[in-house]
Amino acid sequence: PHKLSNDNFLSCLDISADEVHHILEVAKNFKNEDLELKLKNKVLGLIFDKSSTRTRVSFQVAMSRLGGTTIDLNPNTSQIGRGEAIKDTARVLSRYCDVIAIRTFKHSDLEEYAKWSTKPIINALTDFEHPCQALADFLTIKEEYFDFENVVLTFVGDGNNVANSLILCGALLGVEVRIACPKGYEPDSLVINQAREIYKNKNLLKISNDPFSAVSGANVLYTDVWSSMGEEKQKEEKDKDFNGFSIDENLLSKAEKDAIILHCLPAYRGKEITEKVMESKNSRIFNQAENRMHAQQALLACLLA
Ligand code: CP
Ligand code: NVA
Repeated sequence: PHKLSNDNFLSCLDISADEVHHILEVAKNFKNEDLELKLKNKVLGLIFDKSSTRTRVSFQVAMSRLGGTTIDLNPNTSQIGRGEAIKDTARVLSRYCDVIAIRTFKHSDLEEYAKWSTKPIINALTDFEHPCQALADFLTIKEEYFDFENVVLTFVGDGNNVANSLILCGALLGVEVRIACPKGYEPDSLVINQAREIYKNKNLLKISNDPFSAVSGANVLYTDVWSSMGEEKQKEEKDKDFNGFSIDENLLSKAEKDAIILHCLPAYRGKEITEKVMESKNSRIFNQAENRMHAQQALLACLLA
């Protein structure tokens, strides 16, 4: 694994297109057991200010496969919940750990950690991006379609952190990305502009409010929860606003014949996706969840190379 040009992985834009391809290649080799790498005695610090199943466990197992260990912190078990300044926590933890992955609310808090840490910081999800998820997603897409040529990825749902990272990583890889969301739930305009700049004059990012036209010709259908962590108060309103934006068999039938279904999980059946679609032969959702581990093992190997 080659060292990345950036010390941190806060955003998909912290890595180049070549580096995305490299990480996916290393991930594939780890997965196929064609590559064995031991980073003895390396310690990954994990800070989770929000819940997590996949990100926490996949990072722990990825690090143990690399011969390292992890420390799992949250606001209740540390002084973070008692108001210790981020700049102090960051400087202390970077004296103990070799790399730190953080899941928190505000993206600017993650950037504050990165500013003060002397060790690489990884975004394990913020309100703005979920870049580790995007690496696993494109690894899963690569397994299906080998290269990314002519792949159309349609995300149906909220223009949220997961959508933002898909857009940015999709732009780096030259994949056509379509977002179908209710009016008012479009992805961040900064993200849209950044992606369009990467695509240059190719019109490969399409934002619409019509799931049916957006899935027509799609090879990958992707969705995520309508209300993200921290949006509990908006849930009732969003459930109403997202009516008609479920991936069900009818919508799936409008995509390409063998289109695959992705969902970052956790999923809420009967909301953004139906039971039938989740359990259909088109679903790659659990391969995708597994790929979190392989992709992050590759990311750690590159950051620590
Ligand atoms: N997809 C994902 O990040 O899952 P967790 O919230 O369980 O980590
Ligand atoms: N958009 C979701 C993703 C969960 C993995 C959230 O932020 O809660």
